Amino acid sequence: MIVETVESSVFIGTANHGFGQQAQEEIRRLFGNEAKFSHVVPAEIFLYSLPVGKMDAISKVLEQEPMFLRHMQPVDVELDWDGSVAALQAWIHDSFQLTEGTKLAIQIRKTEQVSQLSTGECKKALDSVLTDAYAIVPVAKDAELILSVYLTPERAYAGISKPTDNLSDWAGGAIRFRKEDGQVSRAKFKLLESEVAFGLDFTQYRSAVDVGAAPGGWTSLLLERGIKVTAIDPAKLDAGLLKHPNLTFHKKNASDVVLQPDSFDLLVCDMSWSPRQMARLVKGLLHALQSGGTAIITVKLMHKKPFQTVRELLEDVEPELVLQKAKQLFHNREELTLFFIKS
Ligand SMILES: C[S@@+](CC[C@H](N)C(=O)[O-])C[C@H]1O[C@@H](n2cnc3c(N)ncnc32)[C@H](O)[C@@H]1O
Repeated sequence: MIVETVESSVFIGTANHGFGQQAQEEIRRLFGNEAKFSHVVPAEIFLYSLPVGKMDAISKVLEQEPMFLRHMQPVDVELDWDGSVAALQAWIHDSFQLTEGTKLAIQIRKTEQVSQLSTGECKKALDSVLTDAYAIVPVAKDAELILSVYLTPERAYAGISKPTDNLSDWAGGAIRFRKEDGQVSRAKFKLLESEVAFGLDFTQYRSAVDVGAAPGGWTSLLLERGIKVTAIDPAKLDAGLLKHPNLTFHKKNASDVVLQPDSFDLLVCDMSWSPRQMARLVKGLLHALQSGGTAIITVKLMHKKPFQTVRELLEDVEPELVLQKAKQLFHNREELTLFFIKS
């Protein structure tokens, strides 16, 4: 008798609110119509089952990373949950075999409807299981493995994976930065997150142009990284930045500024404009970006179909700019962030 083993895997996927459908579409493109979905939090968090094993599924997603899937966590075990902490403790105790000394982090998420216990209480209860059963003291940073637990009123889901396999080592991909005193704008978080998401180190750059710079959150970060910055915006830049010795400010529309050829190794653009107009404007400035230079560009998704918007934008900026990665960041709203290298 031939016994056929049918491989499959289950994950919980998370996208920015309103973009769950796009994330599902990307997963369907990767795995075909056998990928099945069900909502956990409408338009944002969903369960999906795939016709391939867990590791194959993870590899495929990492190879062709979707733009809208912010985070994925494997579901290795499921529990019909009575809502009690004791049931969760027993379930986690019986479900996993862990090696003593593993640097493991526990990440708990839950739907709003689970109101009888906080994620903090739950984490504490599960931390104690790992410590008592496996002599593992869960870590907050630099984990080798993450035990992800997701709670809904009737069901609990848990899985173990490497932090990189989840697309983000933050629970649900919700990366947080501390708000600084006097921070110029919340937009700064987008550029901070870009550094992480695209694996960039801005201290390695010398000279940047910031198109659509006001009030100056991105400019302030680039200055902090030691870069000389040329900021362009008809609107006012934060007064505190203006006296910075490494800043040149053109209080103008970007189409009225003349930039020297090859004078920058970094171009950033965070204009809230129609994508095609923005693309044409950026294209007109590309002579100023050195070959091999980096461009980080926010694309407003407007009311158009997001995939079409990205396709059209790429048509406008290629072949001078070569796309490295496009991602909807946690700090993006109705937008995406694109990372390019100049050819
Ligand atoms: C979302 S804000 C940028 C926020 C900025 N990244 C920060 O961190 O503070 C968009 C900016 O683009 C500017 N902008 C729009 N059209 C422009 C153009 N044609 N040339 C230059 N700046 C423009 C607007 O004046 C506005 O200040």
